[in-house]
Amino acid sequence: MTAARTTSWNVAMGASPGPLDLTVPPSHVDGQIPTALRGGRALSNGPGWTHIGGRMAHPFDGHGYVRSFELQPDGGVRLRAEFVQTPSYVAERQAGRLLHRGLATNVSARFWENIRFGPRRNVANTTITRWGDQLLAGWEAGAPHGLDPVTLETRGEEDFGGIITGQATLAHMHKDHQQGRLTLCSVAPGRRTSFTFRELDGDEQLVATAHAEIDGTLFTHDYALTPSWYVLGGNPLRLKGGELAKTLMGAGTMLGSVEPDARRPGVLHLVPRSGEGPVRTVTLPDPCFVVHFGNAFERDGSIIVDVCAFERFEFGQEFGYSGPDKPFDPGHPESRGPQRLLRITIAPGADTATWERLTDHGVDFPRFHPDHEGQQTPRLFGATRKDTRYSDPFDSVIGVDLLDRQRPVQLWTAPDTVFVGEPLFAPDPEHPDQGHVLAILSDGLAEQTTLAIFDATALAAGPVASVPLPLLPIAFHGDWEPPA
Ligand SMILES: [Fe+2]
Repeated sequence: MTAARTTSWNVAMGASPGPLDLTVPPSHVDGQIPTALRGGRALSNGPGWTHIGGRMAHPFDGHGYVRSFELQPDGGVRLRAEFVQTPSYVAERQAGRLLHRGLATNVSARFWENIRFGPRRNVANTTITRWGDQLLAGWEAGAPHGLDPVTLETRGEEDFGGIITGQATLAHMHKDHQQGRLTLCSVAPGRRTSFTFRELDGDEQLVATAHAEIDGTLFTHDYALTPSWYVLGGNPLRLKGGELAKTLMGAGTMLGSVEPDARRPGVLHLVPRSGEGPVRTVTLPDPCFVVHFGNAFERDGSIIVDVCAFERFEFGQEFGYSGPDKPFDPGHPESRGPQRLLRITIAPGADTATWERLTDHGVDFPRFHPDHEGQQTPRLFGATRKDTRYSDPFDSVIGVDLLDRQRPVQLWTAPDTVFVGEPLFAPDPEHPDQGHVLAILSDGLAEQTTLAIFDATALAAGPVASVPLPLLPIAFHGDWEPPA
């Protein structure tokens, strides 16, 4: 990791421009916004305020900052950005310092100041999903926050008419476009981990529920779905006794108190979407730690699942976080090795699976045609590194052909001090195997963010349009909202 790249990362991670509403005219766009995309918008969410009262919060604990990149009919772009006005955000903005303990951040170096049990620090910073007449800003251990879809004004925690009251839902939600449903997953940890999946229709009415209890304490950040199954990663956790005791005493953090249990085999759990029948546990060829899922689908009774999986994983240094009083070290994530993009095949009724690696590149933030969730899809896009030894911080966009496995991957690599975020796929409504990829590029040294738009069939040719924007903080996840 070069010094310039480390500096660029730190500037980009710490950027905090606050609420924005600005327009980039067509004359300032390098290239042309494709006509088919105009009227649509890219959305993203991520921490927008992490350096709080002199302490650097872990990015997982930074306040949610939603960005809406609206592609105008005239070829310009309007950017709106706003903080999610969570109770924690409002209180800490008023106080100018950390008040609520986070997943990986303590409010103070003095342990006794961390023991207070205040409200759960739901910072709504992880995902942004359009559903019905609102945007949902998701977070890992609480309810999503509902936002006005146009103004981004926060409406408050969303319990969907009491459906999830008091239950945390995963930040990742999945849309089943075939059935017009939004799926949510609530997780209750314990010696047995309890999962409740709920499916909402377009009016946010509950239309299906499935419940599963799985032995052990599991790490679950994401899941996949097929017409018949939900697919969960096994990811057994073990408590680090000493660290947990420190955390209870106010000195450690929740994230630092757990670790993946590498002694256990890699498994997937299959939960029937019908809510009827047992959970199937499928053993994988080797231990692995699944963070994000690509697509999953069924073919002749087999289940095929694409995952991004680490061979080994440690919590706490995500995004290069080095503690509340040190700069980020983007070299930290390199020590974990690359995330392998694996295609897992489970034969009908089998309790073991085979897998193949789809590319030598380490891949994360997998995206694909949004209407193909649960169905076979031709291509997967992701963020990656040109250097196959690593995954994040990402410097490249990758496209993998899932139908023609002989076809080489598509790869576009950014300049040295530029970082690549999650690439969104915007399908061409007329030709489902074609479309565009939208990626947010961050250059801390130049203090510039760029919305880059690629032809999905020609990534390596570089962006067909680049939209210069003020520097925005590094984001987590987003969503593509097509033209109305
Ligand atoms: Fe995620």
